[in-house]
Amino acid sequence: MSGSNRVLYESKDGIARLTINRPEKLNALDRLTMQEIDRAVAAAGDDASAGVLIVTGMGEKAFVAGADIGELASQTPLEGAAFARRGQEVLNRLERLGKPSIAAINGYALGGGLELAMACTLRVAADTARLGQPEVTLGIIPGYGGTQRLSRLVGAGRALEILLSGEPIDAREAHRIGLVNRVVPAAELTAAAEALARTLLSRGPVALRYALQAVHEGLQMTLAEGLSMEAALFGLTCATEDMREGTRAFVEKRKPLFRGR
Ligand code: COA
Repeated sequence: MSGSNRVLYESKDGIARLTINRPEKLNALDRLTMQEIDRAVAAAGDDASAGVLIVTGMGEKAFVAGADIGELASQTPLEGAAFARRGQEVLNRLERLGKPSIAAINGYALGGGLELAMACTLRVAADTARLGQPEVTLGIIPGYGGTQRLSRLVGAGRALEILLSGEPIDAREAHRIGLVNRVVPAAELTAAAEALARTLLSRGPVALRYALQAVHEGLQMTLAEGLSMEAALFGLTCATEDMREGTRAFVEKRKPLFRGR
């Protein structure tokens, strides 16, 4: 990908990989990095051969240690609001990619880093990772969705402790409260994220897309509205080749070969 190489992107064997590549600044998200994340996410969305996106950080120390504090420091209130909206839009596009994404959390996931990880569908953390929303230590609050996605993921009580204390938690605690799906030894992180990606790749792509849609849109709805949407999407899956292949493969006692149609 062109640009300053703040983000590396590759796509191979069905898995797209986005790596934040600014290790000398612990992969902090400056404006350029956010623009390159947005481009890489769009590339993953457009890439029909990629069924899953893995998001990770370069180096052993950090996934992403937050938004770039140097850039933040000089903002006026109006600029700050625009900055937050722009970042939220990038992470919304990641969340609504239409295919699953996995954050492989290889170290510090702080501030914008945890917000980036929470916009992914699933999170696998190295046992060395530390996660938090330290914005209050800087006199600000999260602006890339942290107050909203964290409370939806772990509940308001736990979210508020993380948001108000500003103190990071370790990977095991993050797993205990449901903030990450899996914790693995740091040396096994890449393999674990890829194994999870391959499991997802073996499932019906249209079904994954609709399951993601049902959960994300359902969270904005009443239960009755959500159930009604679920029934409609279920009906749509019944019209797919994937559904015919999946059910036929079960009867024939073989693995299904889904084509995403
Ligand atoms: N924005 C800009 N630069 C950052 C950064 C951020 N969020 N996080 C780390 N860096 C930079 C440091 O300034 C330092 O740069 P320098 O070598 O040019 O001085 C480099 O990355 C290495 O970080 P350093 O602080 O020296 O590493 P450490 O091991 O001592 O501490 C952290 C690691 C993560 C505890 C510490 O960097 C930190 O607290 N970062 C900020 C976390 C934060 O508040 N994020 C939310 C922002 S809204």
